[in-house]
Amino acid sequence: MTKGWNVYVTRRIPEAALELLRAETCFDMNPDDRVLTREELLTNVQSRDGVLCLLTDTIDEEILTAARDAVIFANYAVGFNNVDVRAATAKGILVTNTPGVLTDATADMAWALLFSAARRIVESDKYNRAGNFKGWGPVHFLGLDITGKTLGVVGAGRIGTAFAKRAKGFDMKILYHDVAPNRPFEDTCGGTFVDLDTLLAESDFISLHVPLIPETTHLIGAREFKMMKKTALLINTARGPVVDELALVEALRSGEIWGAGLDVYEWEPKLSPGLQELGNVVLAPHTASATLETRTNMGIIAVRNLLAGLKGEMPPNCVNPEASPKKNNS
Ligand code: DGY
Repeated sequence: MTKGWNVYVTRRIPEAALELLRAETCFDMNPDDRVLTREELLTNVQSRDGVLCLLTDTIDEEILTAARDAVIFANYAVGFNNVDVRAATAKGILVTNTPGVLTDATADMAWALLFSAARRIVESDKYNRAGNFKGWGPVHFLGLDITGKTLGVVGAGRIGTAFAKRAKGFDMKILYHDVAPNRPFEDTCGGTFVDLDTLLAESDFISLHVPLIPETTHLIGAREFKMMKKTALLINTARGPVVDELALVEALRSGEIWGAGLDVYEWEPKLSPGLQELGNVVLAPHTASATLETRTNMGIIAVRNLLAGLKGEMPPNCVNPEASPKKNNS
């Protein structure tokens, strides 16, 4: 083992993960709690053996070229659409992610958004704080029943399955859609595989759990909103560009759908014009995995991946194992 590895961390991550890193490497870290500028990223990845990056860093061919000494980019996220994996593979750079540890936190958050939007929690809270609550009212803040409704799950992977599993206590009918039927999902949740259009037309609550790839970009747009029930609620904890956000604003504004709960945005961190003025959408700032335990575990996994790559081993969560590891003996 050597402490000679030269590592860069693009933003502060939880201390338990930094401790692990400190034990085995010399690392520099972005001193500010903000995303690095493009220029800062380009400069700081140079001459590094490895980089621990975040989903907010765009790791494209230019950055990977600047990081020509790096054997690994360990992404502190399960999603890795921010990394040009093809370019990394071509350069023999390993890319890793942090699957598994944020499954439950993200599934919980999807439910939190569903409840908040369906029961108008954010609107009610604002109303109450403004001193407007003058007593119980028979038609105040009427929301939507959840129990017994139909849940539409788009994407039957780890997070989609964990999300659907939680519906059991609410006696819900579960429809799901993915590229193919998924037996483990059905065994766990008792859901029925349907095509996307059927799911959109029949579900009361639609939750997105797909990765962002070309095929899922704008998966939900104007056409899809028209197919949904007027009382439908859309939840997105996946990636912003899966939804055409301008079409969503229009659907929410016109009453084409009832509401939405969002954790991610098409132009993150910017919100599309009109979104923040709408009362029927709950807007979380990409915090689905933001629990003390989960963010710490994500850091530990990212560091373990990084260290494995530096040691010339195949990291546990490598998304491009075909990029042959360059042994680093520094
Ligand atoms: C991820 O890990 O991809 C999540 O979006 C972080 O919250």
